[in-house]
Amino acid sequence: MSTTAWTIALLFTSLHYTSSAAPTWPSSVDELEDILFLNSGYHARGFANPVTPCSKTFGPGRVTAAAWVRTAFHDAISGNIYLKTGGLDGSIQFEINSGENNGQSIPTAVGMWAPFLSNRTSLSDVIAAGVYAATRSCGGPAVPVRGGHKDAIKAGPIGSIPQPQNTIGTFTNQFASIGMDRTAMIQIVACGHTLGSVHFPDTDQVIDQGTFTDDSAPFDSTPSTFDTTIATEYLQGTTKDPLVVGRSVASKRNSDFVIFNSDGNTTITALQNAQTFSTACRSLFQQMIEVVPSGVVLTDVITPYDVKPYDVQLTLLDGGANISLTGDIRIRTSQIKNAAAVQLLYKDRTGTAVSTPIETFVNGLASGFDDSYTFLGFSTDLPADKSISSFDVRVLAADGSSTTYNNNGNSFQVDDKVIYQAPQSCSGSGKLTAVAAVRNDMPVPQLQVVAKVPRASPNPVPSLSTTSIPMATQSAVGAYQLYSADYTIPSSLGSVTFGVYAGGSADTYKNGSSLASACKPLSTTPPNPPPSPPTSVFWGCYSDSFDARALSYQASDSSSVTLESCASQCSQLAYKFSGVEYGSQCWCGNSLDSSSTIQPLSECTQPCSGDPSKLCGGALRLSLYGPSPPRVSNSGPTSSATSSSTRSSSATSTPSSTPTPTAIPSLEGYDYVGCLSDSVNNRTLYDRSQSTPTNNYTTCASFCSGYEFFGVEYSSECYCGISLLYNITEPLSSCSYPCSGDPSAFCGGSSRLTVFRSQSATGAPRNPPIPGYTYKGCYIDSVGARTLGDKVYFDAQLTVEKCAAQCQDFTFFGTEYGGECYCGNELKGDLGKGVEAECQFLCGGDKAEFCGAGNRLSVYEKSA
Ligand SMILES: *[C@@H]1O[C@H](CO)[C@@H](O)[C@H](O)[C@H]1NC(C)=O
Ligand SMILES: *[C@@H]1O[C@H](CO)[C@@H](O)[C@H](O)[C@H]1NC(C)=O
Ligand SMILES: *[C@@H]1O[C@H](CO)[C@@H](O)[C@H](O)[C@H]1NC(C)=O
Ligand SMILES: *[C@@H]1O[C@H](CO)[C@@H](O)[C@H](O)[C@H]1NC(C)=O
Ligand SMILES: *[C@@H]1O[C@H](CO)[C@@H](O)[C@H](O)[C@H]1NC(C)=O
Ligand SMILES: *[C@@H]1O[C@H](CO)[C@@H](O)[C@H](O)[C@H]1NC(C)=O
Ligand SMILES: *[C@@H]1O[C@H](CO)[C@@H](O)[C@H](O)[C@H]1NC(C)=O
Repeated sequence: MSTTAWTIALLFTSLHYTSSAAPTWPSSVDELEDILFLNSGYHARGFANPVTPCSKTFGPGRVTAAAWVRTAFHDAISGNIYLKTGGLDGSIQFEINSGENNGQSIPTAVGMWAPFLSNRTSLSDVIAAGVYAATRSCGGPAVPVRGGHKDAIKAGPIGSIPQPQNTIGTFTNQFASIGMDRTAMIQIVACGHTLGSVHFPDTDQVIDQGTFTDDSAPFDSTPSTFDTTIATEYLQGTTKDPLVVGRSVASKRNSDFVIFNSDGNTTITALQNAQTFSTACRSLFQQMIEVVPSGVVLTDVITPYDVKPYDVQLTLLDGGANISLTGDIRIRTSQIKNAAAVQLLYKDRTGTAVSTPIETFVNGLASGFDDSYTFLGFSTDLPADKSISSFDVRVLAADGSSTTYNNNGNSFQVDDKVIYQAPQSCSGSGKLTAVAAVRNDMPVPQLQVVAKVPRASPNPVPSLSTTSIPMATQSAVGAYQLYSADYTIPSSLGSVTFGVYAGGSADTYKNGSSLASACKPLSTTPPNPPPSPPTSVFWGCYSDSFDARALSYQASDSSSVTLESCASQCSQLAYKFSGVEYGSQCWCGNSLDSSSTIQPLSECTQPCSGDPSKLCGGALRLSLYGPSPPRVSNSGPTSSATSSSTRSSSATSTPSSTPTPTAIPSLEGYDYVGCLSDSVNNRTLYDRSQSTPTNNYTTCASFCSGYEFFGVEYSSECYCGISLLYNITEPLSSCSYPCSGDPSAFCGGSSRLTVFRSQSATGAPRNPPIPGYTYKGCYIDSVGARTLGDKVYFDAQLTVEKCAAQCQDFTFFGTEYGGECYCGNELKGDLGKGVEAECQFLCGGDKAEFCGAGNRLSVYEKSA
């Protein structure tokens, strides 16, 4: 073939991999996407482990990657594109030990793939993934993979597999049956034989026992590198390929020579070029794994999601008033490089947008051959009447811009009609009990169990059997009806997956191996008291420096640090923030130094010394946890990202047209001060704060009762202060976030505070002089080790005078948290003094006096 004709052939075949699209979740290939792209780390399937690195062997001299490619070829070559039969259909599992598939490679490869067969991935899908993994791991091209292969239920026809003794005419016909002409045949043989060896005694007519190390005769000098050496050594005459030289010549089994030489070496000569070699192998391996029988429709080429949800699970909680929502979001950080924080913007079950986003926290990292990922977890309780119907994912970048991913315009859908209840389900003693909560207007659900049934040896691949069981009514809880079903697991079965189905809704693909051993009943009454929401949330990855520490106090540096241990250490010391740096350093503080700024998540990737499954900062990078809600600091209001041509089509920029406030905010009894600038590092209103889904002017004013100023920010935050620590006025239009508890009013914005001043505020509060006592200052206290613990007195109407009277027999007294009074004869512990401004909770009984704060004591000492 002339060079021109050859180029045309190449162009033609390259058309095979042009069709690919950003996937829409959920997709039939979600499990296969994980197998392909999550090699190591959090949620990793570990599919590529046996071929990583490429030099891994399963026996002396036996390169596993080569066995995978060879096994896929043996499966596919049975196909006939004209009759539309066979091809990549997993029939190889029934052909183990047949004369044509002798040796250890095929049973080994099929055995390694068998565990990845599932209700969502056929064996032939897994074989296709195997070609991708083996090729890529050895430095070859990324072979495009489509899903949707279907598995044969019996062996394919005998005689299709090329044997070394075949004539060139036989070879040509065999390759023609899968659509490969002479050029393609030469190319794919070179692509296959760039890896691995021929083995004695698998092929004892070709090599002599003892001729080669390990009785393995490599095709080229680099059997674990996907390179052009197979071609260059052949043409230079230095090849030791046992199918070109040696014993095979005399026994007429030198099939590589017969094939390479069949067009006068034209094609093999061109394959010496690395780019040509890589492009041809990519295209032909794709063609090989796309030979399928009639009736099989393959999906688009699978590309990694930029944003992919995992394990999105609703659970009806005790009493039925709340539903918990948990899961993970996977961000492809090799593509979305600057991600600093991720939020879920969601709609309730009526489709109405909820203004407070769901925040996420880093759960772990993962990587594939070409991409890296960060998983962000979420866990929140939603009112059952509002619930959730869908969400979009907003990725905030370190520069303050944001991009919202809306699943190709479909949003990520969440169905609350049928909910699998994990806490109420269990398994043990050969029985699986599954419980579902189904909305009252839905039909009776079914439990479907997919079990792996072992097949007769030597086939290592199980078959899948599906059982449907109607579920029985249990109790009614709120708007849901509970149903339960039992499935007896025969001891001969392997693992099971299952799902619950009713009407058109379902909650599926649950893992039968991860069930608890005891089913927990769901109470029809709410818990008492309801669990408190987490007090500390993930803020992001923040910079640190030796000159100006981001958090002021280093609590420890140890080989056993975890996020939890550090958070607990800091909270015992009464610090609001905790952060772990460099894997092992635990830092605490009440504010962040202004030099510390938010950084891409990808810079906080060091595993925690005490729990390597979690991430603990990096070099001069803190994984920072602090009071809710987190935010991207040091940036103005979140702005639209500039659109970029490399961004996936599923990304849409944040609309910049939020409603703009024009009317001056007002509240009876208060004067509107303005829309003021605020920042995490320098709070304009310092003394007290909370974040609630019911935030509005009235609720915040009442929370700040007695304080001269209150301010609302970021929809859900409420701040109180006895003075304005900063007075920087911003345009009214920048306080444009609707209040979480009153969407008709505006509650500040990102770093913007809508501030009011009380008309009835008393004179500035103070630490009043108490006769016979001296005010000592603001001391740090902690629940575990009280600074003053000899006598304790609580009074919602506390005043400093009342506390003094209660403690008259002691040397010291101190007030805390507005209503707590502590007495003692010495200041215990070594927590020391805090900043004076931290002790500014107003006393319950006198709003003109200070009574400490959370873990802060306003301490007085008897005068000598
Ligand atoms: C997966 O299982 C469901 C039933 O649970 C069944 O309807 C579906 O056909 C199965 N899919 C495959 C690919 O086996
Ligand atoms: C092709 O190359 C091989 C190896 O160099 C050589 O033995 C053979 O003669 C060549 N064939 C032709 C037709 O030149
Ligand atoms: C199911 O859970 C078991 C035990 O937690 C785990 O080992 C296994 O990998 C899980 N299987 C899948 C498919 O996630
Ligand atoms: C529902 O959840 C909210 C938020 O976590 C909580 O405040 C409320 O007490 C819960 N209600 C019940 C009945 O558990
Ligand atoms: C915030 O406080 C830091 C000191 O903690 C100070 O250096 C910085 O200038 C302050 N920023 C503003 C805007 O006042
Ligand atoms: C804030 O600053 C403005 C001028 O910029 C001033 O009129 C106002 O009195 C100040 N408010 C307070 C409470 O200090
Ligand atoms: C503010 O929130 C409270 C508590 O949820 C509610 O009762 C009140 O009606 C709200 N005020 C406005 C103006 O929406």
